Amino acid sequence: MQMLYTDFKKTDNQPIHSMKKATLNIENQVYELPVVEGTEKEKGIDISRLRPETGYITLDSGYKSTGSTKSAITFLNGEEGILRYRGYPIEQLAKNSSFLEVAFLLIYGNLPSKEELEKFVSKITRHTLIHEDMKKFYEGYPAKAHPMGVLASMIGALSTFYPESQKSELEPEEVDVTIRRLIAKISTIAAWSYKKSQGFPVMYPQNRLGYCDNFLHMMFAQPTEEYEVNPVISEALNTLLILHADHEQNCSASTVRMAGSSHASLYAAISAGVCALWGPLHGGANQKVIEMLRQIREEGSDVAKMIEKAKDKSSDFRLMGFGHRVYKNFDPRANIIKASTDSVLKELGNNDSLLKIATELEEVALSDDYFIERNLYPNVDFYSGILYRAIGIPTDMFTVMFALGRLPGWIAQWKEMRDNREPISRPRQIYTGENARDYVSIEKR
Ligand code: CMC
Repeated sequence: MQMLYTDFKKTDNQPIHSMKKATLNIENQVYELPVVEGTEKEKGIDISRLRPETGYITLDSGYKSTGSTKSAITFLNGEEGILRYRGYPIEQLAKNSSFLEVAFLLIYGNLPSKEELEKFVSKITRHTLIHEDMKKFYEGYPAKAHPMGVLASMIGALSTFYPESQKSELEPEEVDVTIRRLIAKISTIAAWSYKKSQGFPVMYPQNRLGYCDNFLHMMFAQPTEEYEVNPVISEALNTLLILHADHEQNCSASTVRMAGSSHASLYAAISAGVCALWGPLHGGANQKVIEMLRQIREEGSDVAKMIEKAKDKSSDFRLMGFGHRVYKNFDPRANIIKASTDSVLKELGNNDSLLKIATELEEVALSDDYFIERNLYPNVDFYSGILYRAIGIPTDMFTVMFALGRLPGWIAQWKEMRDNREPISRPRQIYTGENARDYVSIEKR
């Protein structure tokens, strides 16, 4: 018996079913599975007809070898340390572009013309205020509320102020206005959650300022004194946001796509993405890196002790900011952040003792067999925390900064999923529980 597939039509930049086939032999039946090839020659075996044709499913905990979608947004080659948004290398974008230009690129597929960018920026700027009633929500959070919890709930709450966003089918202009609202309001929500945690009055957005300057203004200005944005800090923030803007089918992007595949609103899907990013194995690692470096300092700066702890299989401890599911050589974002951190610290005359510990930790780990054998290198979060500290961002806001940067990527992933009319995400499982058994009344148990 042979499986039959409808051949995909080849269009520009679309993956094709190549001439190659993979052969699968189950219980003496041979099946031919089509091989799909992407534009960068990466290959996959199309198993979409596997269950209806054979009754079998594939099993891959953590999706280590599973592609969930075809995507034209971000290309990543972990072996060679390549990261490109819509074909443009991350190094070029980080050096030359602005965060909102990169947001346009990710969401709409091409770099904007001058007019397109001006229009995009001006439309976003018009949405920076949040409804005054939402301001009252901040009164209800406990003083020690983690800003990621505040961010996720406030983004979810946005949908209640714009109920039309909950429609299952949306016109393109309705989608665009939700996109603009989200990009504009997330920085106001984030900065206000910080102000409230400190007991300070919130600072309203200033629409004469650019995206990064406005965020810094809302974070650090006080009504009592003049505040001038330091261009070096603003530039560093711009770089950080660009580096975080997308990273293909990672945990939070997949969450956004999965939540959105039920046709939940974009606000709901992004709120789910914020929650997924929060965990220490994903975006929450940047906060954990700083906590780990502080701990090393408090315990007498014994770097070797921390390395030994990370290697000890009897503990769950891992070296935070090290290792990556995809990058097995180097993380190109980490290289750019390291350079940016050096120049910001130099400019600000900041002599961060944690940076010294981080550098030493990196050196020791990179020459240790355990880390070499497992291809564990510093990832984007290893240095981003040091840079955030230098620009005055408090530790528990680090993951919020990651979310601010990742928002355009999440939106692009959601939009691509909806534009391609992808079906609801619904994985299968191999059931390992009890077989059918009869209910036993409580007296007889
Ligand atoms: N410290 C010590 N050992 C590690 C580490 C680490 N940071 N990362 C992986 N390992 C070991 C792991 O114990 C395993 O060893 P063994 O083969 O002996 O069992 C081996 O390396 C492979 O690990 P894995 O868990 O199979 O790798 P993964 O691809 O599933 O996990 C990761 C990737 C990022 C979750 C993991 O490397 C990790 O937990 N790193 C620390 C947290 C961190 O920095 N996260 C931020 C990731 S970058 C931001 C983002 O994009 O989300």
